[in-house]
Amino acid sequence: MTETFTPAPLDRDAVTYVAGHRGLVGSAIWRLLGEQGFGRLVGKSSKELDLKDRDATFEFFAETKPKYVVLAAAKVGGILANNTYPVDFLSDNMRMQVNALDAALANDVERVLFLGSSCIYPKLAPQPIKEEYLLTGHLEETNDAYAIAKIAGILQIQAVRRQYGLPWISAMPTNLYGPGDNFSPEGSHVLPALIRRYDEARRDGHDTVTNWGTGSPRREFLHVNDMAEACLHLLEHYDGPDQVNVGTGEDSTIKEIANVVADVVGYTGQIEWDTTKPDGTPQKLLDVSKLAESGWTAGIGLREGITSTVEWYREHVDSIRT
Ligand SMILES: NC(=O)c1ccc[n+]([C@@H]2O[C@H](COP(=O)([O-])OP(=O)(O)OC[C@H]3O[C@@H](n4cnc5c(N)ncnc54)[C@H](OP(=O)(O)O)[C@@H]3O)[C@@H](O)[C@H]2O)c1
Repeated sequence: MTETFTPAPLDRDAVTYVAGHRGLVGSAIWRLLGEQGFGRLVGKSSKELDLKDRDATFEFFAETKPKYVVLAAAKVGGILANNTYPVDFLSDNMRMQVNALDAALANDVERVLFLGSSCIYPKLAPQPIKEEYLLTGHLEETNDAYAIAKIAGILQIQAVRRQYGLPWISAMPTNLYGPGDNFSPEGSHVLPALIRRYDEARRDGHDTVTNWGTGSPRREFLHVNDMAEACLHLLEHYDGPDQVNVGTGEDSTIKEIANVVADVVGYTGQIEWDTTKPDGTPQKLLDVSKLAESGWTAGIGLREGITSTVEWYREHVDSIRT
């Protein structure tokens, strides 16, 4: 099946279901779609609609009849959570996405955007990672359960395209950060973890902060508002079976990122690196040329994005997931 980039604006008056609208990605998509004039957005918390519950999911789709669906609901976590709860990451994610995608098919949803993640590419994929490297090598062992679930979701999108000819698509975001992120010590990814650690060290007057590893691995980070823009761009312009990488196309060392965070939060103490702890893959950078060719590139720089995220974190520190 060939890929096409054809401009086709979404109908702003159609019912649009953002699954996971209270999460990091879903809330950014929800905000953007609201700003862009989508007047019939539908969102449900996991308490109101548990997507693991197949009957409830089918009932919701039959009642709501969305025309468009963004599937940003998932069980998501950092390396610790993934490594500790592989059954949950596999089983919960499989059930959520199978139920939502089956219900979307049964209810003739026109456009679906499914979200994968750059961490599901092979562990030793050449850098920068191109879309076609999916399923070409062994997965990172610490999150293989999550990766298998997500890969199954991408394949389900491709299968629906093949079997039913529907223009459903998948995106493959790099590491994301921004307002609404998970800052909990157990569940968070590296950037929110650094923000919390440095801001608490500044607040409590600690003179040393110790991070895991050497600080030399290179990572790419995309602000979630950029991610939301890219999602809308893909929904309106992309119609192809391959998942599309979404990132900035630029990476930094963890040490450089930690220094920016320390500077932005105003932490002036020592930064130490516990080199007895693992570093993970030396580099993880997406090749975003496909997305760039379609006319979208990221607009929010790392320092600017970290600064606004720190502001958001401080404003919401009492109410966020900690
Ligand atoms: N964060 C990243 O760096 C990153 C990077 C690449 C890809 N992604 C992908 O982006 C997607 C969203 O991630 P995120 O970071 O936004 O995660 P998140 O902040 O943890 O949000 C996940 C959302 O999923 C909902 N959810 C969880 N279990 C559910 C259930 N059983 N039924 C219904 N809803 C459920 C949650 O709803 P409640 O809040 O109501 O419980 C929450 O709104 C995922 O597919 C993830 O793989 C994220």
